[in-house]
Amino acid sequence: MSVDDAAPLSYPFPWQSALEPPAEFAELREGCPHARIAVGGGEMTLLTRYADVRTVTGDPRFSRDLSAEGAVGLNADGTDLYSQSESKSMASAGEAHEQWRRMVSRWFTAKRMTALRPEIEQMAEELIDAMVERGAPADLSALLAFPLPIRVICSMLGVPDEDKDRFAHWSNVMMNFSRFSKEETAASTAEFDAYMLGHIEAKRREPADDIISNLIVQTDAAGHRMAGADLLETAKALLAAGYETTANSIGKMTAFLLADRSRWEALLADPSLIRTTVEEALRFDAQLGLGLPRFISEDVKVGDAVVPAGTTVMLSMAAANRDTTVFERADEMVLDRSPNPHISFGVGPHSCVGQALARTEMAVVLEVMLRRLPELELAVPVEELQLDDGLIVTALTALPVRW
Ligand code: HEM
Repeated sequence: MSVDDAAPLSYPFPWQSALEPPAEFAELREGCPHARIAVGGGEMTLLTRYADVRTVTGDPRFSRDLSAEGAVGLNADGTDLYSQSESKSMASAGEAHEQWRRMVSRWFTAKRMTALRPEIEQMAEELIDAMVERGAPADLSALLAFPLPIRVICSMLGVPDEDKDRFAHWSNVMMNFSRFSKEETAASTAEFDAYMLGHIEAKRREPADDIISNLIVQTDAAGHRMAGADLLETAKALLAAGYETTANSIGKMTAFLLADRSRWEALLADPSLIRTTVEEALRFDAQLGLGLPRFISEDVKVGDAVVPAGTTVMLSMAAANRDTTVFERADEMVLDRSPNPHISFGVGPHSCVGQALARTEMAVVLEVMLRRLPELELAVPVEELQLDDGLIVTALTALPVRW
């Protein structure tokens, strides 16, 4: 039987353990770089080689808009984040998206990231104080990794800290492709929309130093201001893209460092390794572990084979980041790896707008943990760590630690 006749592989693949990606990634990268996979909504082609994933991620012909005719969604009912037709300026390629991106990117300057450091440091200190007060063992995921980025996003959007739990819930529904019903997803989206539209109106009346106020007053090259609907979609995109990704990256980074405690000790001895460690943690666990789906409406050669028009591809950054043709000792965590051309933030016209912020949050939280909790260790054997199912991101259900 040829590969084409074989039944498509059921996707997502099970992880070998909470910290080890599916064995299929390495097998397919070697032997079947264009693999047929079955997801809830139908069949896709999974790409796993670094060169292929990198090229296609950056190729604007591969569209992110899965509401297109013939495209396959993660769910049969099209309720997942990727299938919902977002504002065209964000989902599509081209001029409208570029303009949107330019406006949003203005917020994420290096200067602002430097200025944000003390605020993020303060948040991390407070969360660690509260965790220490409750006492060990504690779930570092619930008490530090998740609360930190939601506070950062609420502060960035200018919404009060006391609403952060509602934001956390809305994000959880958006990022989960199997746990919530269509009605639950719709209800949660409606709630978020109503809240955010009210918030945008409040910012129009009383602007402050937040990204929404900033976008309200900005004009693009043609002198246009961002429409209300686009402001709403932007807030949604920032929440969906920036919260759970960063939270899980903080959790996973900490888990990798404690699973082999010689890594943690190396950092205690030499904190100048923090920057390269953050990059290596991002390579080791591309947070969007499920991959990025794209739809192509023309035949395109990718590597040695043609991806036919009408195909939805799934781009596995998690597989690409372990490609041994690009990364020496790809399955080892090398804390001073440099260069580190991982593609966990995507590539090209849609690459992560918030990557400087994510890097800042990860570096600051690591710095504060090393200083405040040098004795930190896992409170359970590493084999007991578990992944949460049904998510676009790869999340630990909990990260029990003591110090
Ligand atoms: C470790 C944390 C993060 C990871 C791994 C991550 C990963 C990614 C990836 C892979 C993409 C590309 C999606 C695609 O090509 O379809 C992306 C896009 C994006 N990210 Fe992030 N991200 C992170 C944190 C953040 C943060 C903190 C923010 C902002 C608060 C953010 C905002 C965005 C936005 C707005 C986009 C869409 C860009 C566009 O369409 O042009 N991300 N992110």
